[in-house]
Amino acid sequence: MAEKKHILFVDDDPAFLHGLRRLLFAQRKVWEMNFVLSADEALEETLQQHYDLIISDVSMPGKDGFELLGMLREREQTQDIPVIILTGGDELSYKRRALDMGATDLLNKPVSQEDLVARIWSALRLKSYQDELKQQKSLLENKVQERTAELEDSRLEIIWRLAKAGEYRDKETGNHIIRVGYISYLLAEQLGMDEEFKKLMFVTSPLHDIGKIAISDTILLKPGKLTPQERLDMQTHTTIGADLLRPDARQKNALRAICSLGLYQAVSNNENPLLRMAAIIALRHHEWWDGSGYPDGLKGDAIPLEARIVALADVYDALRSQRPYKPPMSEEKAMAIMHEESLRHFDPMVYDAFLKRQEDLQVITDQYADGTLDETLSLLQENSTKI
Ligand SMILES: [Fe+2]
Ligand SMILES: [Fe+2]
Repeated sequence: MAEKKHILFVDDDPAFLHGLRRLLFAQRKVWEMNFVLSADEALEETLQQHYDLIISDVSMPGKDGFELLGMLREREQTQDIPVIILTGGDELSYKRRALDMGATDLLNKPVSQEDLVARIWSALRLKSYQDELKQQKSLLENKVQERTAELEDSRLEIIWRLAKAGEYRDKETGNHIIRVGYISYLLAEQLGMDEEFKKLMFVTSPLHDIGKIAISDTILLKPGKLTPQERLDMQTHTTIGADLLRPDARQKNALRAICSLGLYQAVSNNENPLLRMAAIIALRHHEWWDGSGYPDGLKGDAIPLEARIVALADVYDALRSQRPYKPPMSEEKAMAIMHEESLRHFDPMVYDAFLKRQEDLQVITDQYADGTLDETLSLLQENSTKI
């Protein structure tokens, strides 16, 4: 059997309420009816108990029916309860006001049993349609949220696996990318950047060397010094990385053709801030503050801030980590080199932020010492939810 509907009647006249009770006696199997003598009592009742419908008189001592209606509409808990207002037959202005304030229906006193029962059923039906719609809407919203979170997770995972692929080509198997991500995040924080920028730094800085996947092994793995030509070839990892991360119009059209529109927008939007920042970092992380870097010899502020941050984070972590060709450098020696580099290579503002966060950087270096691919990925997952 369907659950009983709860209806609240409000009228200051006990005799009128008594009449209603008698009139609706037969409905008590399907309706749970409550009768109160004032607006205050009604407000109290609606806090204690869920109601599907309220039927209220207008003229009452204390708060009148309009005030009751206004207060019900203001409270989130009661704003959707249908309210039928009972008015005297001639009170035309009352009727307009009641409807303006969000009353569901109006009834003239005295009321006939047939009319009353019919109006109550119609208000209850309306309420259940509304409830159903509301439920559907919230189900849908939850589903959308879930799907968005899933998409976001898989997008991050793809980015990190891609970053790791770049590191593998360079014979780096450690946690370099997570440390660069973390250091970049800290530097951005020290520089007073907003939440969105910091998060993007954490997620996109690991992709700085992704262009290395297109550099030949003979150059990438050459043990000795590179020839001038080889050096130039190696430097193309910046422009290749940016190309990889910035899909051109043709790629975009191809993606549009194979993906459903919603998914396409979510994963491959050219304006996606994540891919845009990743591309900037890949392109500019070897530019030097004094203009002697590559690929374009940009100088000072002309180099985007995100790239100036990663330039420092990348050099610092490379000095402190073990590579196949070198042991990790002591903190002291690394700091001496960083100082020397700061004169030409780094943005003085970023270098200053770096000096101020020494303690935190030490924690990162220790906490994210080199590990396996899976360890790195799970660390990244863990930190992306924390950050
Ligand atoms: Fe690089
Ligand atoms: Fe790097």
